[in-house]
Amino acid sequence: MINIVLFGPPGSGKGTQAQNLIEKFNLKQISTGDLFRYNMKNDTALGILAKSYIEKGELVPDQVTIDMLIDELKKPCDAEGYIFDGFPRTAYQTEALETIVREVLNSSIDICLSLVVDDEILVERLLKRGETSGRKDDSNKEIIANRIAEYYSKTAEVAELYKQQGKYVEINGVGDIAEISEKLFAEVAKLKNKSSLQD
Ligand code: C5P
Ligand code: MG
Repeated sequence: MINIVLFGPPGSGKGTQAQNLIEKFNLKQISTGDLFRYNMKNDTALGILAKSYIEKGELVPDQVTIDMLIDELKKPCDAEGYIFDGFPRTAYQTEALETIVREVLNSSIDICLSLVVDDEILVERLLKRGETSGRKDDSNKEIIANRIAEYYSKTAEVAELYKQQGKYVEINGVGDIAEISEKLFAEVAKLKNKSSLQD
């Protein structure tokens, strides 16, 4: 089993690249943002709560997100591992993920692949996506600025934690989508080789 944290600021391409990675390596994508949006669309209690944060560009409280993630991970799954897209977003979530993956999957996080993109490009990309995504948090400059501010104040430190564990790899997230995918594929292939040598 291979478990990947796909990391990066909003608009860095995590969702797009997760899609390519799941096909290539038979993984399951868990996007906490998508799960929130599904709940918002269906007006569940969780959706209504999450909406009050998401529409301001703020992070939903850790425990709410963590409980949702646990429910998702407990679902039967015949993939060969997971891609966590948009989670963890805080140091607390990072520690929780380690415990959850151990307790629910009897496994661990293998790597944090980090997509690096300049802020200016992020804003451009998110506004452009907002033209078609119907996402309120993509269509307003102030909300976007707040999401990026949340990233620096609460999420960036997640990278430090994976660096300390020797699990952190940065990839330039600007350029041709397929070329970026190839670089990500190469990192995952390296990991798979290493684990097959250990078996
Ligand atoms: O990951 P994505 O950018 O789709 O997330 C959209 C929004 O969902 C975030 O801006 C944030 O408000 C919320 N979110 C969160 N905690 C997470 C993931 C998403 O609060 N771990
Ligand atoms: Mg996304």
